[in-house]
Amino acid sequence: MRIYRAADYEDMSRKAANILSAQIILKPDSVLGLATGSTPIGIYRQLIDWYHKGDLDFKEVRTVNLDEYKGISSGNQQSYHYFMKENLFRHVNIDQSNTYLPDGLAKDSEKECSRFNEVIEQLGGIDIQLLGLGHNGHIGFNEPGDSFEKGTHCVTLTQSTIEANSRLFKEGEEVPREAYTMGIQSIMMARKIVLVVSGREKAEILKSAINGPVTPLVPASILQMHSDFNIVADKEAAALL
Ligand code: F6R
Repeated sequence: MRIYRAADYEDMSRKAANILSAQIILKPDSVLGLATGSTPIGIYRQLIDWYHKGDLDFKEVRTVNLDEYKGISSGNQQSYHYFMKENLFRHVNIDQSNTYLPDGLAKDSEKECSRFNEVIEQLGGIDIQLLGLGHNGHIGFNEPGDSFEKGTHCVTLTQSTIEANSRLFKEGEEVPREAYTMGIQSIMMARKIVLVVSGREKAEILKSAINGPVTPLVPASILQMHSDFNIVADKEAAALL
């Protein structure tokens, strides 16, 4: 486990973007495991900037995303498909047919989970997985529970996650209550992991995840067992480490 301490959000974003861009430069057809949420936005902005400067090429890059809401279409502005298009894909020369997310409108959830597991397998696995950290220690939508879930599965979101996500929805818009997520096994099989954490309100949970016992009650704690686990945290998030 390596901890990279950053001065602030901008510095955290640049440091994490450097790790991702090194991966792309060293292996142009890398499979990037990507996350949504507010934490990675600065990283994507930085990658777009380096792409415009000619330092990065996404032509052969493939991506898989951690999760997607169930019951909304990829065109819905709240979907993670839409988020990825707006925050990264449409700004760089990635081939959109090389970008994969679970299909929120799939009729058969179980089949959709198997399909997504197969997608990851057929791509040859994930080279580098970017993760944000939920306030309750979730990664992807793997919420605290009795055991670690393995592959892609469908989850009912906890009230705290629904509340945290509601800030991204307009008033009156219903926040989805279910989602597809990669499982802990899919995440742990990534060859490299980069967890990005920003802000004082994540300091306590980051400390539990990194220094506490490995337990499904804090899903991110399993990352301690990964052989190439990198944490990029700003000063406030790393305050208790
Ligand atoms: C998003 C995801 C979530 C977020 C987490 C932190 O694809 O999988 O686990 O990474 O909820 O979200 P932010 O960055 O908004 O604090």
